[in-house]
Amino acid sequence: MLSTRLASRRLAVPARRWKHTSSRPPLNSVTADDVAHFAKILPQNAILSTLPPSDLHASDIDQYNNDWMGKYHGNSTTVLRPQNTKQVSDIMKWCHERRIGVVPQGGNTGLVGGSVPILDELIINLGNMSKVRSFDPVSGALVADAGCILESLSEHIAPHNHIMPLDLGAKGSCQIGGNVATNAGGLRLLRYGSLHGTVLGLEVVLPDGTVLDNLTTIRKDNTGYDLKQLFIGAEGTLGIITGVSILTPPAPQASTNVILALPRFENVLPVFKTARLHLSEILSAFEFIDREAYDLAVKHGQGKALNEQDVEGAECFVLLETSGGKKEHDEEKLTGLLETLLEADEPLILTGVLSQSPTQFASMWRLREGITESVSKEGKAYKYDISIPLAAFKEVVDLTREHLRKQGLLHEEAVKQVIGYGHVGDGNLHLNVIAAAYTSEIQAALEPFVYELVASYNGSISAEHGLGAMKAHAIHYSKTGVAVDMMKKIKELFDPRGIMNPGKVLEF
Ligand code: FAD
Ligand code: MLT
Ligand code: ZN
Repeated sequence: MLSTRLASRRLAVPARRWKHTSSRPPLNSVTADDVAHFAKILPQNAILSTLPPSDLHASDIDQYNNDWMGKYHGNSTTVLRPQNTKQVSDIMKWCHERRIGVVPQGGNTGLVGGSVPILDELIINLGNMSKVRSFDPVSGALVADAGCILESLSEHIAPHNHIMPLDLGAKGSCQIGGNVATNAGGLRLLRYGSLHGTVLGLEVVLPDGTVLDNLTTIRKDNTGYDLKQLFIGAEGTLGIITGVSILTPPAPQASTNVILALPRFENVLPVFKTARLHLSEILSAFEFIDREAYDLAVKHGQGKALNEQDVEGAECFVLLETSGGKKEHDEEKLTGLLETLLEADEPLILTGVLSQSPTQFASMWRLREGITESVSKEGKAYKYDISIPLAAFKEVVDLTREHLRKQGLLHEEAVKQVIGYGHVGDGNLHLNVIAAAYTSEIQAALEPFVYELVASYNGSISAEHGLGAMKAHAIHYSKTGVAVDMMKKIKELFDPRGIMNPGKVLEF
């Protein structure tokens, strides 16, 4: 299970972002009277509060107030862990009445500071809502409480030969409700598409406590507006997702992966094109890892490194996965691809290592999935999750590194490394700047520099992690004024008191 790493130091990065600019009165803090009211809704062990008469200390609820990276820190006094939708609804009715800000929290693996309070909002953690409600092995429709861990859902449906349509490195901790709230992409998007397509229905508790029950398992429903889409990727700013209905695909009968070492970044695009041509429908993932990211994952023991001589001179790597119906058939196609890539006048790859066993298969994935953990072991990460044209992946990493060098910040005590990895198939680069500490100097050097760079490619400043607290102020780099105004109207309609995850996605 992925461990939730807690911050050992408090660093003043994000709080400055939140300004009370709205014409509404400020939100109320949770009081001892509120906690007494929550005790009428929830059992005592579902309430964690540091307010008197409780003898809990702030450190007892640290894991809920601090994010996975140790970058964002809230000051909530109270965490509620409801067990069912009715309890969530009753809590929200009270918070609405009392104008108490609420942060919905899943596995707290989010990477943009969306899952922890900015000030002292109430945290509603969904971890106790973890029941599978139903699974139809014929249609593959799975209905589950929002607090179910992604990996547990995979395990639940595996005996029926189905898989979850999404997979990510945080699978051991993140929850399906959090995945939907962030519209998480991950490693299978190339094959199964986004949650906007695979989510069939949602049950959502609205900010005033009303339950919007849209937990259908049917695939086609053209009866007016598709409301569930609004909550997918809303990052908890419109309501609390309590139930998810999702279409799970049949498990592929044969999966293989291969790691390719490329002499030059410029070969990534031709390799991708050739792979698509050769593998067509069986290509299920195509992930990019630059040299520094690869070396970092190896350094931190993530997966098994390739033979050193074979990868000498490699500028970057690609992890390619196939998922098909027949092992021999798929392997034949893959071998054909490798031959083509190696046999060209100027070979496109230096080497290609095909996994030969389930252990090797997992180890190769570990090299890619483990980069996130390696980065956080190496230092403090400034994570930029961007959509840009594939041809610009390297350029953006190089330009950012050069910019930091010019600012005199590229050295061990400030920025240690700038690395790139990501989902080539989705045009999504993860640009990570690894620093010795979070400082306002590095922050100022990076922003708006990175956002302006992305905008110059007409890209998106958030391909999959969302805006959260980190990028709410920067939404205009990727959305027009008209779009932001429409979003504000939608927010106002659902949450006129502004209590849902305040300061996230939209600055109010
Ligand atoms: P949290 O972190 O708890 O919350 C995230 C946001 O969703 C917050 O704004 C929160 O308020 C809201 N939220 C949570 N639950 C609910 C709910 N029930 N109702 C309403 N709002 C809610 N992301 C990707 O997209 N692709 C990846 O490949 C990927 N890999 C990752 C790998 C690692 C190692 C880590 C640490 C993170 C990764 N992430 C990735 C980011 C993160 O895991 C995902 O965004 C994940 O979907 C968040 O789920 P969670 O349950 O942890 O949500
Ligand atoms: C990934 O693709 O590994 C995730 O989105 C997490 C990250 O960006 O580190
Ligand atoms: Zn990703």
